[in-house]
Amino acid sequence: MTIRTHTCGALRKSDSGKTVVLQGWVARARDLGGLVFIDLRDRYGKTQVVVEPEQAAVIQIAHDLKSEWVIEVTGVVRARPDGMINADLPTGEVELVATGIEVLNRCPELPFQIESQDKASDELRLKYRYLDLRRTELQEVLILRHKVANIARNHFTEQGFIEVETPCLVKSTPEGARDYLVPSRVFPHQFYALPQSPQIYKQILMVAGFDKYFQICKCFRDEDLRSDRQPEFTQIDVEMSFATRDGVFAVVEELWVKILRDVWGVELPMPLKRLTYNECIEHYGSDKPDLRYDLRFENVTSHVQDTEFRVIRGALDDGGVVIGLRVPGQAELSRKQFGEVEELAKAAGLGGILPIKITAEGFSGVMSGKVDDAALAKIVQQLKGEVGDLLLLAVGKKSKVLKSLGVLRIKLAEHFKLFDPADHRKVSMFWVVDFPLFEKDEETGEVFPAHHPFTGFNPEDADRLDTEPWNVRSTSYDLVMNGNELLSGSIRIHDPILQAKIFKLLGISDEEAKLRFGFLVDALKFGAPPMGGFALGFDRMIMVLTNRPIRDVIAFPKTTLAQSLMDGSPSPVDLKLLSDLQIALAPASPQKG
Ligand code: AMO
Repeated sequence: MTIRTHTCGALRKSDSGKTVVLQGWVARARDLGGLVFIDLRDRYGKTQVVVEPEQAAVIQIAHDLKSEWVIEVTGVVRARPDGMINADLPTGEVELVATGIEVLNRCPELPFQIESQDKASDELRLKYRYLDLRRTELQEVLILRHKVANIARNHFTEQGFIEVETPCLVKSTPEGARDYLVPSRVFPHQFYALPQSPQIYKQILMVAGFDKYFQICKCFRDEDLRSDRQPEFTQIDVEMSFATRDGVFAVVEELWVKILRDVWGVELPMPLKRLTYNECIEHYGSDKPDLRYDLRFENVTSHVQDTEFRVIRGALDDGGVVIGLRVPGQAELSRKQFGEVEELAKAAGLGGILPIKITAEGFSGVMSGKVDDAALAKIVQQLKGEVGDLLLLAVGKKSKVLKSLGVLRIKLAEHFKLFDPADHRKVSMFWVVDFPLFEKDEETGEVFPAHHPFTGFNPEDADRLDTEPWNVRSTSYDLVMNGNELLSGSIRIHDPILQAKIFKLLGISDEEAKLRFGFLVDALKFGAPPMGGFALGFDRMIMVLTNRPIRDVIAFPKTTLAQSLMDGSPSPVDLKLLSDLQIALAPASPQKG
């Protein structure tokens, strides 16, 4: 082997006549008997290599080449004749006429073809992740990931933040999910936890005087996985002392301006909009609505308060509400097409959906003639309906209807193609503010923090803390982009007495608080500055930027059962290891999942 002179993406017409050395993988070898064409690939691109019959020794080797063999080619760059130029490849104006080929490594028969787009199963692709990662599109994703990490690192560094590493073997940090535990050998029957986030440590760094901290770090959460969750994921974690909410928002907004400018060439209008949590829930049925399309709902109950129309009457008598949304331009829907909308509504958890079609002649739909026209007109007015629009009304218990309409809204946008997921120029990014401080489990009545127990609250609501804690607004915020929660954060409690009070409200006893996070409470006593911060979900950012599922944006992802199919983890361990840890295994119960 010699040293390569160029990568497989480098050669151009201006290199014609040069003798060069390329190394890479055989993406494809076409043996035309006399001539052999090889597409040679590395992460920079592809170059076409031609082996001509005059090179007797070389063509002998070329005849045997198979896909994914690793080879070195020495040759002379030649401009391709006009008709043979491949405009799709940056190297498409040239080819390399081989004068020598050295096989650096062979490859057995592949479990799936890397170059062809035929779909191998997800399992197979994950088992042979290194082969899947050879595909250009996945390489591009990881290269973009690196680029965005760099933009973020530079951004925070330029703004005076310093990156500090916090430990991975920690005392469990309460963030709502289950911890991954690591047993201690030195202290038998005691455990570390892998951090769910560096939350406590970054707050302690503020106490220590590092007023602007950031870290691109791994977090670990043993929770049910979804399409946007992995058990091991990356955050861009930030904390600032003496920070106001506006100050925190400015740091994040400037970062996103840079990212979207560099990655998409899009100028993000600043400052970003701020929506309250209540507004999001009442009008979009979600705390992370996708606002690339409108489909905003309105509570129209007051207009039909006196109706005798059976479906609505029944719901209202049951304490329910009527909520409507407007689908622009779909009044002409056929019966069959409306049937499809009904199916979507049912799949979203609604019993049914009531249509009002607004036509030049008036309103039609099951309600016309049954609900008086004046009431219908008020509904139309509130929903800003116009001739040609279809209005959809859902009835039932408020929280259920809002939640289901939130799901239906997304399905309708997809169904009626109200936005193009590939259109980068259309970005919906905004802050959600005024989250409640606490949430209550409807079944158990248990109160838990809506964000985490170190989140501050709006001082205007302080007197409600003892009387109606669910109506206290927190100082937490989320950043939402195209329907994804990208960031969460808050201005924290820095007063140890207030922190103790919040623990009490959460039903966490003094002993438990001391045991679980006493070291934070202790630290807060030693002159904690006011502070606030956030964590950006880095994998989610790359998901949104590439419009791909989370497993495509992580080099070595886990399955939905948190397995790594490539290395076979989790796996049984050597019993000797367990005995060193003084751990005995109970009989296994069936695998969960
Ligand atoms: P939170 O738990 O909301 O806040 O997490 C912050 C962001 O991290 C991303 N995220 C995930 N990404 C992939 N897989 C997961 N399992 C996963 N869980 C969360 C989301 C989310 O918005 N310590 C606080 C932040 C703070 O208050 O400063 C925290 O971790 O994009």
